Amino acid sequence: MKRANPLPRRTNPFFQWASVIAAIVLLAGCKKQSAEQPTTAPEATAKETAPSAPVQRPLTPAAKAAHMRDHFTKAAVVNQAILSGNLAAAKQAATWLVEHKDPAPPQTWNVEPLRLAARRVAEASNLTTAGAALGELAATCGSCHVAMKTNIKFADELLVSGGTDIKERMRRHVWATKRFWEGLVIPSDEKWAGAAHLLHEKALRELPNVKDQAKLKAAQQAAQSVHDLGKAALSTKDLAMRAQLYGQLAATCAGCHKLIRPPKAELATIR
Ligand code: HEC
Ligand code: HEC
Repeated sequence: MKRANPLPRRTNPFFQWASVIAAIVLLAGCKKQSAEQPTTAPEATAKETAPSAPVQRPLTPAAKAAHMRDHFTKAAVVNQAILSGNLAAAKQAATWLVEHKDPAPPQTWNVEPLRLAARRVAEASNLTTAGAALGELAATCGSCHVAMKTNIKFADELLVSGGTDIKERMRRHVWATKRFWEGLVIPSDEKWAGAAHLLHEKALRELPNVKDQAKLKAAQQAAQSVHDLGKAALSTKDLAMRAQLYGQLAATCAGCHKLIRPPKAELATIR
């Protein structure tokens, strides 16, 4: 995969993410055009040319890319919805993954684990369970990629540097979250480690002016958990354990956003 163009720094981080996805979609689209060919031979032709050979054909690159594009974009929607604390949107996107029927199912691909994890998101009754299922979902991507020896690349993204104010901190949180996600999906130790190093910086202290003491306390705890999870991530090696950690992290972001974040459309409706 080619590198995406450097992304503008000042835009909403989730939109940056969306543009990376859009770039992937475009690339996949190009592939599709250049490699367009029928996925299944008409039976008559198959019989004429090779009467006793099995009719099963390898999946064309275009069909593979289309399949991945579907999974990838929908899984990203689930991910973003949970991070922003929008359980309903997460469940909706997960339901699509459960019910989605591939037009030409690649018979050597086992997508059942992915469906099962998506179903757990779709059936989740709170963000904690949804987060846990989200981690499992990302790990099912990674497991299959390992099993099938794929070599997936995600564009590198410049690390947003700087300030301690909440907006800058959130930008870094987003950067780290994306790298964790890629660390699971590819899977990649390097991406995972990059995220862990960033996230375990000092816990966020500058919170908005929250008057309700109980809320404030819960938010402070969430900020501390983010830091603690970043630290724990440094020594978490196994894919399943990493998935579990990511699930906890996503639920922690979601929890604080539900608690103290002023409602903003872009976090909830981002694609
Ligand atoms: C059952 C196996 C399987 C599962 C599950 C799976 N993938 Fe893949 N994925 C593949 C294979 C095989 C390729 C390489 C396709 C090719 O050769 O073009 C691939 C490629 C990709 C690519 C690169 C696509 C491109 O155009 O180069 C991305 C991104 C991707 N997968 C994301 C995901 C995500 C996200 C999930 C989970 C929601 C997932 N995959 C689940 C098998 C799987
Ligand atoms: C301690 C509470 C807290 C935690 C934990 C938290 N956030 Fe936030 N987040 C906020 C608040 C408050 C805002 C609103 C900031 C503002 O608009 O001034 C926000 C805003 C955001 C935004 C929108 C930024 C923008 O430019 O509009 C994103 C994206 C975000 N958070 C991602 C994350 C991610 C990812 C995590 C987890 C790794 C996370 N947050 C964890 C409190 C939190």
